[in-house]
Amino acid sequence: MKKILVTRRLLSENSERISNIFDVRLNNDDKLLSPKEILKYAKDCNGILTFPDTILSKDLILKLPESVKIISNYAVGFGNIDVDTAANKGIIVTNTPDVLTDATADISILLLLGASRRAYEGRKAAETENWKWSADYLIGKQMTGKKLGILGMGRIGRAVAKRARGFDMEIHYHNRKRLNPDLENGAIYHEEVNSLFQNSEFLSINCPGSKDTENLINEESIKNFPDGVVIANAARGEVIEDETMIKAMKNGKVFALGLDVYRGEPTINKKYLELNNLFLLPHLGSATSSTRIAMGNRAIDNLDSFLNKKIAPKDRVN
Ligand code: DGY
Repeated sequence: MKKILVTRRLLSENSERISNIFDVRLNNDDKLLSPKEILKYAKDCNGILTFPDTILSKDLILKLPESVKIISNYAVGFGNIDVDTAANKGIIVTNTPDVLTDATADISILLLLGASRRAYEGRKAAETENWKWSADYLIGKQMTGKKLGILGMGRIGRAVAKRARGFDMEIHYHNRKRLNPDLENGAIYHEEVNSLFQNSEFLSINCPGSKDTENLINEESIKNFPDGVVIANAARGEVIEDETMIKAMKNGKVFALGLDVYRGEPTINKKYLELNNLFLLPHLGSATSSTRIAMGNRAIDNLDSFLNKKIAPKDRVN
Protein backbone atom coordinates (compact mmCIF):
# COMPACT_ATOMS: atom_id res chain seq x y z
CA MET A 1 0.00 0.00 0.00
CA LYS A 2 1.18 3.52 -0.79
CA LYS A 3 1.89 5.73 2.20
CA ILE A 4 0.12 9.05 2.83
CA LEU A 5 0.70 11.75 5.43
CA VAL A 6 -2.52 13.57 6.41
CA THR A 7 -1.51 16.85 8.06
CA ARG A 8 -4.78 17.65 9.92
CA ARG A 9 -7.76 15.65 11.20
CA LEU A 10 -10.26 14.46 8.60
CA LEU A 11 -13.93 13.76 9.28
CA SER A 12 -14.37 10.10 10.27
CA GLU A 13 -16.14 9.29 6.96
CA ASN A 14 -12.99 10.40 5.13
CA SER A 15 -10.39 8.96 7.50
CA GLU A 16 -12.11 5.56 7.31
CA ARG A 17 -12.04 5.63 3.53
CA ILE A 18 -8.43 6.75 3.22
CA SER A 19 -7.32 4.16 5.78
CA ASN A 20 -8.85 1.42 3.63
CA ILE A 21 -6.93 2.30 0.49
CA PHE A 22 -3.64 3.71 1.84
CA ASP A 23 -1.18 3.19 4.63
CA VAL A 24 -1.91 6.49 6.39
CA ARG A 25 -0.29 8.64 9.03
CA LEU A 26 -3.29 10.48 10.41
CA ASN A 27 -3.09 13.52 12.65
CA ASN A 28 -5.98 12.73 14.98
CA ASP A 29 -4.79 15.29 17.57
CA ASP A 30 -5.30 17.89 14.84
CA LYS A 31 -2.32 19.91 16.06
CA LEU A 32 -0.95 22.20 13.33
CA LEU A 33 2.31 20.50 12.32
CA SER A 34 5.50 22.55 12.13
CA PRO A 35 7.62 22.30 8.95
CA LYS A 36 10.05 20.11 10.91
CA GLU A 37 7.24 17.74 11.93
CA ILE A 38 5.88 17.59 8.37
CA LEU A 39 9.33 16.58 7.12
CA LYS A 40 9.64 13.98 9.88
CA TYR A 41 6.20 12.41 9.25
CA ALA A 42 6.50 12.62 5.45
CA LYS A 43 9.48 10.25 5.52
CA ASP A 44 8.82 7.35 3.10
CA CYS A 45 5.44 8.80 2.14
CA ASN A 46 4.25 8.80 -1.47
CA GLY A 47 1.77 11.60 -1.01
CA ILE A 48 0.56 14.27 1.39
CA LEU A 49 -3.05 15.24 2.02
CA THR A 50 -2.92 18.74 3.40
CA PHE A 51 -5.13 21.66 4.44
CA PRO A 52 -5.39 25.40 3.69
CA ASP A 53 -3.75 26.57 6.92
CA THR A 54 -0.70 24.35 6.49
CA ILE A 55 1.99 26.24 4.61
CA LEU A 56 4.07 24.15 2.24
CA SER A 57 6.75 26.70 1.37
CA LYS A 58 9.49 26.51 -1.21
CA ASP A 59 12.01 25.60 1.49
CA LEU A 60 9.83 22.82 2.88
CA ILE A 61 8.97 21.37 -0.53
CA LEU A 62 12.64 21.31 -1.53
CA LYS A 63 13.36 19.27 1.62
CA LEU A 64 10.52 16.75 1.13
CA PRO A 65 11.66 13.17 0.58
CA GLU A 66 11.95 12.14 -3.08
CA SER A 67 9.24 9.51 -2.47
CA VAL A 68 6.56 12.26 -2.24
CA LYS A 69 5.01 12.62 -5.70
CA ILE A 70 1.66 14.26 -4.99
CA ILE A 71 0.27 16.90 -2.63
CA SER A 72 -3.51 16.83 -2.42
CA ASN A 73 -4.93 20.02 -0.89
CA TYR A 74 -8.25 19.83 0.99
CA ALA A 75 -9.43 23.19 -0.39
CA VAL A 76 -10.16 24.86 -3.67
CA GLY A 77 -7.56 27.56 -2.90
CA PHE A 78 -3.93 26.46 -2.99
CA GLY A 79 -2.08 29.65 -2.04
CA ASN A 80 -0.67 27.72 0.94
CA ILE A 81 1.46 25.59 -1.40
CA ASP A 82 4.39 26.75 -3.55
CA VAL A 83 3.03 25.00 -6.64
CA ASP A 84 5.89 26.09 -8.93
CA THR A 85 8.54 24.63 -6.66
CA ALA A 86 6.45 21.46 -6.40
CA ALA A 87 6.21 21.26 -10.21
CA ASN A 88 9.98 21.75 -10.59
CA LYS A 89 10.49 18.91 -8.15
CA GLY A 90 8.08 16.69 -10.09
CA ILE A 91 5.36 16.83 -7.45
CA ILE A 92 1.75 17.10 -8.62
CA VAL A 93 -0.54 19.41 -6.65
CA THR A 94 -4.34 19.01 -6.65
CA ASN A 95 -7.27 20.90 -5.10
CA THR A 96 -10.99 20.29 -4.46
CA PRO A 97 -13.06 22.49 -6.81
CA ASP A 98 -16.83 22.22 -7.44
CA VAL A 99 -17.82 20.50 -4.22
CA LEU A 100 -17.64 23.63 -2.05
CA THR A 101 -19.14 26.06 -4.54
CA ASP A 102 -22.65 26.21 -3.09
CA ALA A 103 -21.61 26.30 0.55
CA THR A 104 -19.16 29.14 -0.08
CA ALA A 105 -21.63 31.11 -2.21
CA ASP A 106 -24.16 30.81 0.62
CA ILE A 107 -21.62 32.30 3.02
CA SER A 108 -20.95 35.20 0.60
CA ILE A 109 -24.65 36.05 0.67
CA LEU A 110 -24.72 35.67 4.45
CA LEU A 111 -21.80 38.12 4.72
CA LEU A 112 -23.52 40.63 2.42
CA LEU A 113 -26.76 40.39 4.37
CA GLY A 114 -25.12 40.28 7.78
CA ALA A 115 -23.08 43.39 7.01
CA SER A 116 -25.78 45.38 5.19
CA ARG A 117 -28.54 44.57 7.73
CA ARG A 118 -26.31 45.29 10.74
CA ALA A 119 -26.51 41.79 12.19
CA TYR A 120 -23.63 42.31 14.65
CA GLU A 121 -25.19 45.42 16.22
CA GLY A 122 -28.59 43.72 16.15
CA ARG A 123 -27.37 40.67 18.02
CA LYS A 124 -25.65 42.82 20.64
CA ALA A 125 -28.77 44.96 21.14
CA ALA A 126 -31.14 41.95 21.33
CA GLU A 127 -28.96 40.39 24.03
CA THR A 128 -29.30 43.48 26.26
CA GLU A 129 -33.15 43.35 26.21
CA ASN A 130 -32.87 47.12 26.35
CA TRP A 131 -33.85 48.25 22.87
CA LYS A 132 -36.97 49.68 21.38
CA TRP A 133 -38.41 49.24 17.90
CA SER A 134 -38.65 52.55 16.12
CA ALA A 135 -38.94 53.66 12.51
CA ASP A 136 -35.30 54.65 12.35
CA TYR A 137 -33.76 51.98 14.58
CA LEU A 138 -30.70 50.09 13.17
CA ILE A 139 -31.47 51.01 9.60
CA GLY A 140 -29.51 48.94 7.11
CA LYS A 141 -29.08 48.82 3.37
CA GLN A 142 -31.35 46.69 1.22
CA MET A 143 -29.84 44.45 -1.44
CA THR A 144 -32.98 44.31 -3.59
CA GLY A 145 -32.43 45.79 -7.04
CA LYS A 146 -28.91 47.09 -6.29
CA LYS A 147 -25.76 46.67 -8.34
CA LEU A 148 -23.66 43.75 -7.11
CA GLY A 149 -20.02 43.60 -8.20
CA ILE A 150 -18.42 40.16 -8.16
CA LEU A 151 -14.64 40.10 -8.05
CA GLY A 152 -13.71 36.72 -9.51
CA MET A 153 -16.40 35.06 -11.61
CA GLY A 154 -15.28 31.45 -11.29
CA ARG A 155 -17.59 28.72 -10.03
CA ILE A 156 -18.17 30.41 -6.66
CA GLY A 157 -18.64 33.88 -8.15
CA ARG A 158 -21.21 32.50 -10.59
CA ALA A 159 -23.05 30.74 -7.75
CA VAL A 160 -23.14 34.06 -5.87
CA ALA A 161 -24.57 35.71 -9.01
CA LYS A 162 -27.25 33.01 -9.23
CA ARG A 163 -28.32 33.69 -5.64
CA ALA A 164 -28.14 37.47 -6.09
CA ARG A 165 -30.52 37.29 -9.07
CA GLY A 166 -33.07 36.13 -6.50
CA PHE A 167 -32.65 39.57 -4.92
CA ASP A 168 -33.21 41.22 -8.32
CA MET A 169 -29.65 42.54 -8.24
CA GLU A 170 -27.86 43.81 -11.35
CA ILE A 171 -24.72 41.69 -11.65
CA HIS A 172 -21.36 43.18 -12.65
CA TYR A 173 -18.09 41.27 -12.61
CA HIS A 174 -14.38 41.39 -13.17
CA ASN A 175 -12.41 38.32 -14.09
CA ARG A 176 -9.08 37.67 -15.79
CA LYS A 177 -11.08 36.62 -18.86
CA ARG A 178 -14.57 37.48 -20.00
CA LEU A 179 -16.96 34.54 -19.69
CA ASN A 180 -18.94 33.01 -22.52
CA PRO A 181 -22.46 34.49 -22.75
CA ASP A 182 -24.07 31.31 -21.39
CA LEU A 183 -21.96 31.50 -18.23
CA GLU A 184 -22.29 35.27 -18.05
CA ASN A 185 -26.07 34.94 -17.97
CA GLY A 186 -26.61 38.69 -18.39
CA ALA A 187 -23.84 39.80 -16.00
CA ILE A 188 -21.92 42.89 -17.14
CA TYR A 189 -18.17 42.39 -17.66
CA HIS A 190 -15.59 44.97 -16.58
CA GLU A 191 -12.13 44.51 -18.00
CA GLU A 192 -10.72 46.95 -15.44
CA VAL A 193 -11.15 46.23 -11.77
CA ASN A 194 -11.69 49.93 -10.98
CA SER A 195 -14.56 50.03 -13.44
CA LEU A 196 -16.13 47.13 -11.52
CA PHE A 197 -15.66 48.99 -8.26
CA GLN A 198 -17.33 52.12 -9.72
CA ASN A 199 -20.37 49.95 -10.47
CA SER A 200 -20.58 48.10 -7.15
CA GLU A 201 -23.08 49.21 -4.53
CA PHE A 202 -22.36 45.81 -3.04
CA LEU A 203 -19.18 43.84 -3.71
CA SER A 204 -18.59 40.12 -3.23
CA ILE A 205 -14.95 39.02 -3.30
CA ASN A 206 -14.64 35.50 -4.74
CA CYS A 207 -11.28 35.53 -6.52
CA PRO A 208 -8.37 33.20 -5.72
CA GLY A 209 -5.66 34.46 -3.39
CA SER A 210 -2.47 35.14 -5.36
CA LYS A 211 0.19 37.78 -5.97
CA ASP A 212 -2.15 39.29 -8.60
CA THR A 213 -5.07 39.69 -6.22
CA GLU A 214 -3.13 40.74 -3.11
CA ASN A 215 -4.20 44.23 -1.93
CA LEU A 216 -6.60 44.73 -4.87
CA ILE A 217 -8.61 46.87 -2.47
CA ASN A 218 -6.05 49.52 -1.54
CA GLU A 219 -5.83 53.22 -0.76
CA GLU A 220 -6.18 54.20 -4.43
CA SER A 221 -8.68 51.64 -5.70
CA ILE A 222 -11.12 52.10 -2.80
CA LYS A 223 -11.83 55.65 -4.01
CA ASN A 224 -13.66 54.13 -6.98
CA PHE A 225 -16.54 52.65 -4.99
CA PRO A 226 -19.78 54.59 -4.61
CA ASP A 227 -20.01 56.04 -1.09
CA GLY A 228 -21.61 53.60 1.33
CA VAL A 229 -20.62 50.39 -0.45
CA VAL A 230 -21.10 47.07 1.34
CA ILE A 231 -18.25 44.59 0.86
CA ALA A 232 -18.06 40.85 1.61
CA ASN A 233 -14.91 38.74 1.48
CA ALA A 234 -15.25 34.94 1.41
CA ALA A 235 -12.08 34.44 -0.64
CA ARG A 236 -8.74 35.30 0.98
CA GLY A 237 -7.89 38.01 3.51
CA GLU A 238 -4.92 39.26 1.50
CA VAL A 239 -7.19 40.80 -1.17
CA ILE A 240 -7.98 43.68 1.21
CA GLU A 241 -5.45 46.19 2.56
CA ASP A 242 -6.78 46.22 6.12
CA GLU A 243 -5.66 49.70 7.25
CA THR A 244 -7.31 51.24 4.16
CA MET A 245 -10.51 49.31 4.81
CA ILE A 246 -10.65 50.29 8.48
CA LYS A 247 -10.26 53.97 7.56
CA ALA A 248 -13.01 53.66 4.92
CA MET A 249 -15.35 51.94 7.39
CA LYS A 250 -14.81 54.78 9.84
CA ASN A 251 -15.41 57.60 7.38
CA GLY A 252 -18.49 56.02 5.75
CA LYS A 253 -16.97 55.27 2.35
CA VAL A 254 -17.70 51.65 3.27
CA PHE A 255 -21.09 51.25 4.97
CA ALA A 256 -20.29 47.79 6.28
CA LEU A 257 -17.96 44.84 5.77
CA GLY A 258 -18.52 41.09 6.03
CA LEU A 259 -15.44 38.93 6.50
CA ASP A 260 -14.98 35.17 6.58
CA VAL A 261 -11.22 35.25 5.85
CA TYR A 262 -8.27 37.18 7.26
CA ARG A 263 -4.70 38.06 6.44
CA GLY A 264 -2.58 35.69 8.52
CA GLU A 265 -5.70 34.07 10.00
CA PRO A 266 -6.70 33.29 12.69
CA THR A 267 -5.24 36.70 13.65
CA ILE A 268 -7.27 39.80 12.82
CA ASN A 269 -6.18 43.44 12.70
CA LYS A 270 -7.39 44.51 16.15
CA LYS A 271 -8.60 47.88 14.85
CA TYR A 272 -11.46 46.03 13.12
CA LEU A 273 -12.77 44.99 16.51
CA GLU A 274 -13.43 48.61 17.49
CA LEU A 275 -15.97 48.88 14.66
CA ASN A 276 -19.67 48.07 14.79
CA ASN A 277 -20.21 47.97 11.02
CA LEU A 278 -18.50 44.62 10.74
CA PHE A 279 -19.96 41.12 10.44
CA LEU A 280 -17.41 38.39 11.10
CA LEU A 281 -17.19 34.64 10.66
CA PRO A 282 -14.20 32.35 11.29
CA HIS A 283 -13.54 30.92 7.77
CA LEU A 284 -16.77 28.92 7.56
CA GLY A 285 -17.15 29.09 3.75
CA SER A 286 -17.13 25.34 3.22
CA ALA A 287 -18.21 24.33 6.73
CA THR A 288 -21.17 22.02 6.22
CA SER A 289 -20.81 18.30 6.81
CA SER A 290 -21.87 17.29 3.29
CA THR A 291 -19.40 19.75 1.78
CA ARG A 292 -16.52 18.78 4.05
CA ILE A 293 -17.11 15.06 3.36
CA ALA A 294 -17.20 15.80 -0.37
CA MET A 295 -13.96 17.81 -0.10
CA GLY A 296 -12.29 14.91 1.71
CA ASN A 297 -13.51 12.45 -0.91
CA ARG A 298 -12.29 14.67 -3.73
CA ALA A 299 -8.85 14.99 -2.09
CA ILE A 300 -8.73 11.19 -1.60
CA ASP A 301 -9.91 10.57 -5.19
CA ASN A 302 -6.98 12.63 -6.46
CA LEU A 303 -4.50 10.55 -4.45
CA ASP A 304 -6.22 7.30 -5.42
CA SER A 305 -6.22 8.13 -9.14
CA PHE A 306 -2.57 9.06 -9.21
CA LEU A 307 -1.00 6.58 -6.80
CA ASN A 308 -3.27 3.51 -7.03
CA LYS A 309 -5.04 3.65 -10.38
CA LYS A 310 -2.09 5.33 -12.14
CA ILE A 311 -4.32 7.76 -13.98
CA ALA A 312 -4.24 11.56 -14.08
CA PRO A 313 -5.89 13.07 -11.02
CA LYS A 314 -8.96 15.11 -11.88
CA ASP A 315 -7.91 18.31 -10.13
CA ARG A 316 -4.27 18.91 -10.95
CA VAL A 317 -3.31 22.60 -10.60
CA ASN A 318 0.40 22.69 -11.52
C1 DGY B 1 -11.00 26.71 0.22
O1 DGY B 1 -11.35 25.61 -0.19
O2 DGY B 1 -10.11 27.36 -0.33
C2 DGY B 1 -11.70 27.21 1.43
O3 DGY B 1 -11.28 28.47 1.80
C3 DGY B 1 -11.54 26.22 2.57
O4 DGY B 1 -12.61 26.39 3.44
